[in-house]
Amino acid sequence: MKAIFQNKYGSSDVLMYGDLPQPAIGRHQVLVEVYASSINPRDWLIRSGRYQLQFLVPAFPLVLGSDISGVVVAVGASVTRFKPGDPVFGMKNPAQGLGAHAEFAAVNEASLASKPQSLDFDAAGGMPLCSLTAWQALVDIADVQRGKRVLIIGASGGVGTFAVQISKALGAVVTGVCSATNHALVKSLGADYAIDYKADDFKNMGSTYDIIFDTIGRESLASCKSVLAAGGMYVSTIPTPKNLVAALASKVKHAVFKSSKRCGVVMVKPCHTSLEKIAALVQKGQVITMVDSVFPLMDAKKAHDLSRSLRAKGKVVLHVKGV
Ligand SMILES: NC(=O)c1ccc[n+]([C@@H]2O[C@H](COP(=O)([O-])OP(=O)(O)OC[C@H]3O[C@@H](n4cnc5c(N)ncnc54)[C@H](OP(=O)(O)O)[C@@H]3O)[C@@H](O)[C@H]2O)c1
Repeated sequence: MKAIFQNKYGSSDVLMYGDLPQPAIGRHQVLVEVYASSINPRDWLIRSGRYQLQFLVPAFPLVLGSDISGVVVAVGASVTRFKPGDPVFGMKNPAQGLGAHAEFAAVNEASLASKPQSLDFDAAGGMPLCSLTAWQALVDIADVQRGKRVLIIGASGGVGTFAVQISKALGAVVTGVCSATNHALVKSLGADYAIDYKADDFKNMGSTYDIIFDTIGRESLASCKSVLAAGGMYVSTIPTPKNLVAALASKVKHAVFKSSKRCGVVMVKPCHTSLEKIAALVQKGQVITMVDSVFPLMDAKKAHDLSRSLRAKGKVVLHVKGV
């Protein structure tokens, strides 16, 4: 099969397009013919050897890629939910071997859901990791509810664009923090208000929030405390020691004082039940993938460089197969 792979860590120049053997599948796995994937920051962090959980990354030749949309071509002996021909989407973590930037990938059945019909394969390939990160931060960790005031830092990025839509779909009042040039975009996705971080500081604007979801890792519980409501929660995508300690300490404190302010850290996990809930929002027209650009698989280097710029509006998609 064709794949993007690397035999050493480094800049995007280490990425090669060539032939590798198709992966074998285990009893609980599905072989997916990949139609699309996407670039996530973890791809260029792993590529350069700087990922926090680098010890979980498979050996060379290394095929990157977490997000997958495609069609099932074979199933392991214990697989019950899928059969050849089913359109699916899902994600793989480093401990599960990555490998989505290729024509075929072996994926655990539990990591896959049926692709929503209304979503084309490119859009589906850009959805799983970022939408699950937003879902697990907002729903599983912060328990977003109708009427809650949610601030999303990095609202125009991959995680942020899903966070805006999911919190809006669940009834929250949403403020997005992003560049002024992206205000129209985040409002079109459902944000009620937008703040330009280059011109204003949300911490000095007189508003308070029940949930602050920091997708970029610029803030902390300590820096946001003054604008969190009683019992409010700061959630970060960045597992720094400071955030992890704050999360543990605030959990203990919150068990005693319900009104104390909390910190959470999201570490995205593949989860087909959450992906099915996101797919239901897609079918209702409440969530889309905001696609910044689509690159053919062989142009993965350009796609990495665009994602690395931190200027993408939504997702950088890798197109592998199909129209
Ligand atoms: N822990 C986990 O499980 C997990 C999961 C997913 C992602 N992450 C991490 O979360 C981070 C975001 O991921 P992503 O996929 O959303 O990245 P991304 O799509 O590359 O983010 C790009 C966005 O960052 C925004 N941005 C850059 N500097 C900003 C600032 N100072 N304030 C506000 N926004 C700013 C840009 O917005 P403007 O152009 O509008 O300025 C752009 O839209 C990455 O560090 C990633 O590694 C962690």
